Amino acid sequence: MGLPIPASASAPAADTVGALREGRDRTLALVASVSDADLERVHSTLMSPLVWDLGHIAAFEDLWLVHRYGQKPLLREDLADTYDAFETPRAKRGELKFLRPPQAREYMAEVRERTLAVIDERGPADVHEMVLRHEHQHNETMLQTLELACLREYEPPGRTALPPSPSPANTGLEMVQIPAGECTIGAPRGGFAYDNERPRHRTDVRGFLIGVTPISNATYLTFVEGGGYERREWWTDEGWAWKEQYDITRPGQWTADGVAEWRLGVLVPLDPHRPVAHVSWFEADAFARAHGARLPTEVEWEKAATWDQERGASRLYPWGDQPPVPGVHANVDQLGGGAAPAGAYPAGRSSYGCLGMIGDLWEWTSSDFTGYPGFLPYPYREYSEVFFGPDHKVLRGGSWATRARVITAAFRNWDFPQRRQIFSGTRIARDA
Ligand code: AVJ
Ligand code: FE
Repeated sequence: MGLPIPASASAPAADTVGALREGRDRTLALVASVSDADLERVHSTLMSPLVWDLGHIAAFEDLWLVHRYGQKPLLREDLADTYDAFETPRAKRGELKFLRPPQAREYMAEVRERTLAVIDERGPADVHEMVLRHEHQHNETMLQTLELACLREYEPPGRTALPPSPSPANTGLEMVQIPAGECTIGAPRGGFAYDNERPRHRTDVRGFLIGVTPISNATYLTFVEGGGYERREWWTDEGWAWKEQYDITRPGQWTADGVAEWRLGVLVPLDPHRPVAHVSWFEADAFARAHGARLPTEVEWEKAATWDQERGASRLYPWGDQPPVPGVHANVDQLGGGAAPAGAYPAGRSSYGCLGMIGDLWEWTSSDFTGYPGFLPYPYREYSEVFFGPDHKVLRGGSWATRARVITAAFRNWDFPQRRQIFSGTRIARDA
C-alpha cells in the first residue's frame, strides 16, 4: 500500500473544497440530461459506459483521498477491481457489474462526504490536486463518449459566441521560425504536476519552423480533394493499412460530401476557418508529408509554446505564468462547444508568435510517449509508465473540452496513432 501520503498544505482547505465541488458540479451537469439507458450503454468499444466513468471517479477519490491519504478503509472494497482502469480495459467495461446510475451517484456523494471529513482532519495536500484533475480529465473523456453517441452536450454557464476568424484567416500553413538552441522542458518543481512532466530538464533543438495555428478545415479539405487519402506515398505503412482496413476517407466527424460535420449530435456546416478536428496521428502525419512538412516533436512544440526559451525564461503557458482565462487566452472548459477559428485569441499568442496552442484542439506530435531522463513513477506506475513506448504518440495543448486547471504547456496526453475520438487537430513543422 506504500508510505503514508504527507500532508502538504499547498492551498487553503476552502479553495480545495470549492474546487472539488465545482469539479463535481461539472461532472454531474455533463450527464444530467442523459437517460439511465444511455448512461449504461456501450456507445463505442473505444469508450467506457458513462456510468462507469462516474463510479470510477468516485473509486479513485476514495482510494487516494480517503484510504491512502486519510488511512481509512475503502468504502466499497468489492468495487475496487470493477473501477480499476488498468485491471479492466475500456473494451471490457460493458460486461462489468458496475453500479447502476442512481447507486453510482450515491456512491459519489458518500465518498465525497468522507473526503471532506479527511480534509477537516488533515487539511488538503497535493494528492487532492491529482484527484481533482483526474475528475476533470474524465470530463473530457465523457465528452468524447457523448460526441460518439451523438448525445447533447451540457452548455456551461457563460458560454458566448466564439470570436470571429481573424482576417485574413489563418490556413495553418503560415509558419514562424524558432531559433536553434537550448530550451527547458517539463513542469517546474513545487506544486502538483504529473510524473511524466518531470524531471524538468534542459535540452537542445535545431532551428525549425512551426505553424502559426493548427490546420484549418479549408486547408484540410484541399488535401482530401487533392487525393490525400489515395496517394500511397504520403502515408506510413501502418497508416495506409489502417486507412484501407477501415475505409477512412475523411476526418472522423465529417459528412461524406465534406460540407458539414457532426458536433455533439448536431450537424453544422463545415467552417472553413476552424481547425480540422478528429484526425488521427496517421492522417496528421500524411497531411504534413503532402505539404513537404512533418509533425513537430513534442520538445519543439513545448519550446514554441513557452516563453523566451533562449533566455531560459520558460513559463507554463504561452503568455506567461497565469492559467488560461477562458475566452481571453484560449477556448477551454467547454467554452466553445468546439474549436474556435484558427488564431482567434490574440492574447494567447506565444512569445514566438504561435496562436491557439492551448485549448481548441489537442495537437499531435511526432513523438512516442516516453519518460524524461530520470523519470520516476509518481504516485503510481499505471498513470504513465505502463503506456511508455512506441505504441502511443504524444498530443499537446488541450482542447475546448479540457478543463483550464488541467492544461499547461508542459502537459502530455497520449493515444494510439489510429485514434480520433479525441478532440484532436494538427499543426505542422519543418526543418529550418
Ligand atoms: C492522460 C487522457 C491519456 O484517459 O487514459 C484518466 C487520463 N488517467 N484516468 C486517460 C487518465 C487515469 C488519461 N489520459
Ligand atoms: Fe481514470
